[in-house]
Amino acid sequence: MASGKIGAAAAGTWTLGDLTVNRVGFGAMRLPQRGPAFAPEAIPGDRDQAIKVLRRAVELGVNHVDTAAFYFSSLRSANELINTALSPYPDDLVIATKVGPGRDPSGEWLSLASPVQLRGQVEENLRQLGCDCLDLVNLRMSGLDSIAENFGALAQLRDAGLIRHLGVSNARPEHLAQAQAIAPVVCVQNSYGLGHRPQQDQLLRACGEQGVAFVPFFAIAGAGREAGPSGAEHEDVLAIARARQATPAQIRLAWALQRGPHVLVIPGTGDLDHLADNIAAAALRLAPEDLARLEAIHQDG
Ligand SMILES: NC(=O)c1ccc[n+]([C@@H]2O[C@H](COP(=O)([O-])OP(=O)(O)OC[C@H]3O[C@@H](n4cnc5c(N)ncnc54)[C@H](OP(=O)(O)O)[C@@H]3O)[C@@H](O)[C@H]2O)c1
Repeated sequence: MASGKIGAAAAGTWTLGDLTVNRVGFGAMRLPQRGPAFAPEAIPGDRDQAIKVLRRAVELGVNHVDTAAFYFSSLRSANELINTALSPYPDDLVIATKVGPGRDPSGEWLSLASPVQLRGQVEENLRQLGCDCLDLVNLRMSGLDSIAENFGALAQLRDAGLIRHLGVSNARPEHLAQAQAIAPVVCVQNSYGLGHRPQQDQLLRACGEQGVAFVPFFAIAGAGREAGPSGAEHEDVLAIARARQATPAQIRLAWALQRGPHVLVIPGTGDLDHLADNIAAAALRLAPEDLARLEAIHQDG
């Protein structure tokens, strides 16, 4: 594919509340370090390179950037890099952040934030991103049976004007229902990809039926998670990639986009060529026979 020329708009748009985004976005977790995020020995990423990647993403039409205050290495913070690279922010840029988990300044994980602590996490994101209102905040509260109290705290911050829209992350169907009983939910951000957590298919479909965006993370990395794509690529993915003159990562992104018009991908990379490839996947349309082959891989998990 002609990576580098195709823009993020080629896959169309979706509306998060009153904010319209291109369906191919960008995840900033990879920028603060080289190699896996959160590794204690992680080597800080190159600052100028990270800024180039962010600016290039926006030049290529990305207007949905995912981040978190807990995305940092010893010397780099994803939020600070976004602020430096992209502010003053373009009017159409939607920056989605997430709260719930936290790390102390040395990088150690803290216990999940309480409702009171969530306000501090929202304010931390506001300070780092340099804005007065966060476009979209996802509550990531895996492990809780009820997220009502925590989501209620965020709904209050939304009412107070600190947050425009709310989402949930690492959510089970009952979490979505609990949150929706409190305030509108514009997205579910969960771990999902080709052959990775096929049991999420039902929630993905339910989101589409309700007009809620489904935002998969690890759509390329899959089970490799923070470590990135693991092991050998599946033979059928390689064959389809060859036939389409695309890369396996592009096939994975195109497959995710074709799961529904409400699916928004946020591939993460610190590499300019990978960035161009990922955005170019916006124009790739897999044929029914490709999708049938990929479905078999997906259901095998
Ligand atoms: N809500 C949550 O709990 C949660 C959890 C994790 C992540 N996230 C968000 O989701 C975003 C996406 O997740 P992710 O960044 O881990 O996963 P991903 O986009 O599925 O995969 C990123 C990995 O794939 C590699 N890669 C990216 N593009 C490639 C390409 N075109 N060809 C070959 N390899 C490629 C990257 O390495 P290179 O840097 O070398 O390209 C990196 O190792 C994150 O950035 C973050 O914003 C959210």
